[in-house]
Amino acid sequence: MSGARIIDGKALAAKLRERVAAQVAALAETVRPGLAVVLVGEDPASAVYVRNKNRETQASGMASFEHKLPADTPEAELLALVERLNRDPAVHGILVQLPLPDGIDSAKVLRAIDPAKDVDGFHPENVGALWTGAPALAPCTPRGCMTMLAEVHPEGLVGKRAVVVGRSNIVGKPMAALLLAQHCTVTLAHSRTQDLPGVCRSADILVAAVGRARMIEGDWVQPGATVIDVGINRIPADGGKTRLVGDVDFAGASEVAGAITPVPGGVGPMTIACLLANTVTAACRLAGVAEPEV
Ligand code: GUN
Repeated sequence: MSGARIIDGKALAAKLRERVAAQVAALAETVRPGLAVVLVGEDPASAVYVRNKNRETQASGMASFEHKLPADTPEAELLALVERLNRDPAVHGILVQLPLPDGIDSAKVLRAIDPAKDVDGFHPENVGALWTGAPALAPCTPRGCMTMLAEVHPEGLVGKRAVVVGRSNIVGKPMAALLLAQHCTVTLAHSRTQDLPGVCRSADILVAAVGRARMIEGDWVQPGATVIDVGINRIPADGGKTRLVGDVDFAGASEVAGAITPVPGGVGPMTIACLLANTVTAACRLAGVAEPEV
């Protein structure tokens, strides 16, 4: 039997999407936020994300622009598209879905995006702003994790020991920056960390973003800790099917943790909701208006 509070990402994401839709409605006379999503190649997981992004962007009342390019698209052509989107006044947010096919320099493409339209927060200017405490467009998945933590810890995170497992540019590093900004004592651990179980056990807040199915076991979790599982791993299931599991062994960890996110239905739904929220932020800044308080 699970003892932990289950953090309902679906419900929280629905609440955030409602807020975004209300902001978009309030902006109707001023600016219609527009999000452009660029997908290069046929990666099936990416195709699913992009479809969901477009659906939710439209459902919120924003304009959605979808650009699907073949896997063999030359880098110069992709850079030219990014330049067009940078100049397009109807586009306030640009997201180039990662990973990009081999042969395209992802860093170069991310640098080409106008930082003011970089709703992923991956441009070096926004990364620098995030670490120096300037107002930045924060990457969507870490932002979603922080929203979930705020729900569990309305008193704030000051002084808490936070361990992030995974050092990617998309999740681990920006997550560490956001936790630090909230005055946590942050350890950025990874697959080569010595005594990873012991390091995890020291965490009041444990964020798993390593991309390895159920790597973090129940006895790696400090009793009462808050566990945020960013992993989305597909594993074989009965009857030749597959199923999604996180980076945390949910059955074991939920016996010990104080609160935990499920997979699916945890962090996943929050990411797109935060992308929509970032697009509203970008549109308001570009239009020179305050974000509507709704
Ligand atoms: N691929 C997996 N997650 C993300 C994300 O948050 N943004 C982009 N652009 N690509 C991704």
